[in-house]
Amino acid sequence: MSQHQPSAFQIIRDEHSAVSAVLRSLLRMLERGPADEPMRYFDVMRAMLFYIDEFPEQRHHPNESNLLFPKIARAAPELMPVIRRLENDHLEGEQRVRGLQHLLLAWELLGETRREAFVTAAQEYVRFYLDHMRSEEVQLLPAAERHLSDSDKAELDAAFRKQRDPLAGGEREPGFERLFTRIVMKTPAPLGLGEE
Ligand SMILES: [Fe+2]
Ligand SMILES: [Fe+2]
Repeated sequence: MSQHQPSAFQIIRDEHSAVSAVLRSLLRMLERGPADEPMRYFDVMRAMLFYIDEFPEQRHHPNESNLLFPKIARAAPELMPVIRRLENDHLEGEQRVRGLQHLLLAWELLGETRREAFVTAAQEYVRFYLDHMRSEEVQLLPAAERHLSDSDKAELDAAFRKQRDPLAGGEREPGFERLFTRIVMKTPAPLGLGEE
């Protein structure tokens, strides 16, 4: 591995920034509403939720739950209550984002009567997710940087480098290229290139 490769801790922070950019854009789109472009609107909202389901949920969280959390729990057992709460968030996260995808579809297909349910659930989800990432960054990562051995850190570096989020500097798999183009081209700044 080249020494210029980022550490696992840096990758975690970068991936958090990518997810929070998506979440903040999602909030902005909620405020704005579909206006006179419902097709484009629902298309990009769907792409954002799909991205969260696909990358953070399927790759970032499992690496944290299976590798990072157990190492921190061993090295700093006083953090167990925090780790338990974060682990619980991971368990809930996938269900929550799937639930949101359903609520979005209900709004798109059934119309305005289902809008509020999606908006409320999405706002709550964004809060939940931002809190989760903040907690990891403030309560866990500094402790991990202090307490973990070099060999633990090397093991984490290798695992996190293998599956980096394509929105956070990872390799763009061809199959997902269209998804990212879609999110980036149609999402308002700061994440995307779409009109403000
Ligand atoms: Fe996490
Ligand atoms: Fe995380």
